Amino acid sequence: MKLTNSNNINNLQNNNKYHIETFGCQMNIYDSELIAGLLQNCGYSETSDIKHADIIFLNTCAIREKAEDTVHNRLESIQYLKTRKPHVMIGVMGCMAQNLKDNLLESKPYVDIILGPDSYRRIPEIINSRKPHNGHHVDTRLSKYELYEDLFPSRQDGVNAWISISRGCDKFCTFCIVPFTRGRERSRSKDSIIRETEEAVFNGFVEITLLGQNVNSYRTENGKFPHLLESVSAVQGVKRIRFMSPHPQDMDEHLLQVMSEHENICNYIHLPLQAGSDRILNRMNRTYTKEEYFSLVDIIREYLPDCAISTDIIVGFPGETEGEYEETLQVMDQVVFDRAFMFKYSSRPGTKAAEYSDQISEKIKQDRLERLIALQHSHTLKANQRHIGKILKVLIEKESKKSVMQWTGRTEGNMGVIFDKSDEHVKDIVDILITDAQGVSLFGYRVSEKELMYEVN
Ligand code: SAH
Ligand code: SF4
Ligand code: F3S
Repeated sequence: MKLTNSNNINNLQNNNKYHIETFGCQMNIYDSELIAGLLQNCGYSETSDIKHADIIFLNTCAIREKAEDTVHNRLESIQYLKTRKPHVMIGVMGCMAQNLKDNLLESKPYVDIILGPDSYRRIPEIINSRKPHNGHHVDTRLSKYELYEDLFPSRQDGVNAWISISRGCDKFCTFCIVPFTRGRERSRSKDSIIRETEEAVFNGFVEITLLGQNVNSYRTENGKFPHLLESVSAVQGVKRIRFMSPHPQDMDEHLLQVMSEHENICNYIHLPLQAGSDRILNRMNRTYTKEEYFSLVDIIREYLPDCAISTDIIVGFPGETEGEYEETLQVMDQVVFDRAFMFKYSSRPGTKAAEYSDQISEKIKQDRLERLIALQHSHTLKANQRHIGKILKVLIEKESKKSVMQWTGRTEGNMGVIFDKSDEHVKDIVDILITDAQGVSLFGYRVSEKELMYEVN
């Protein structure tokens, strides 16, 4: 939400500044925007320079050990700011706060605030009671109800607005910490999602990405996910809608039907596979088999022939044999994902898989990951080269990093496209004839309406 005048006056009077650093997934980006909204209502203004901040929040992620290490290192590297300016408050928010409360209090006593993902409403109260050295503020209770429906995030001016439609996860995949850090799944009311969409459009955003750990298990008394998608699609001014991440178990034909009927819903589905072997999928508690995943891909391609499909894959899950790993490679060969996010299994204390006795060595995990990345690299290139000679709709995002004479934008399938500027603007959707594909980027040139008519006829 934009700052009101009275907030601006407040800022000028006390000139307090906040700095938020966000780690992890899009849900955390969204939460950081909610936190920014709360801080602005308390009269704080943002600074991108951490040295100027009176309040520093790290919004953290616990999904893999590496994500936690990054935050530990970052905290150590900013500790000196407190020595210099003792009034500075350092807060750890999000999934790691939830997960590592005691560890953080012990190992990083200079952290003043620890708030889990359901405790952000405490921020104004904590800020207003702020005195130097008045102890720690810790709240990591999880709520069955908190949806922050009445709060509005403070977004940076841009093209895409993230909107959270549900919180938490009840799936309990055996490798995953999220059900423990974010608690039970709950869906936000359609009215508040539509209100937030309208507000985002009013503030200049043209693309909406609906977020949830299992976005397609959304349900309220006003309908399920496909109904919600239709309602968001009908909001005036929404040029594009994306959503992430759907779970294969909750995919249905109604969703694909809705996607095929609405021009502004992008032909793009991120469909996490995780593994290609039925035994491993079962051990992961993913609730689908390899064959079921294949049928899903077939149905998606029937309804949406040009749909881009991306995925998440974990290698080295406990007990994964070389043969089972190769099944993952075979699934990739058969589906040819447009993109994949690939991870080495990371043991998360407290999850079921962390207790399995057949953990895989780091060396094998690394080797499997490298082979997976190499295969996906060739698939991404292959998937991209399929676009050469086609005209794709590209939403312009910003000037290209490579040249001020070029734009960079995205296709419906979320591929980056670079092309020469003419008279178009950021946030326009233009027709680009794709002429080249390199790495993860596409290149092309704009086709005028006249040329397009010629092409169609
Ligand atoms: N809710 C989403 C995933 C959120 S986490 C879904 O179910 O699709 C994003 C990805 O991180 C997961 O899809 C998984 O591939 C990966 N991930 C989660 N836990 C992990 C772990 N312990 N080790 C390695 N990767 C993990
Ligand atoms: Fe984690 Fe599974 Fe829930 Fe995704 S569906 S957040 S991987 S438990
Ligand atoms: Fe990380 Fe929490 Fe997201 S663990 S991936 S920030 S839900």
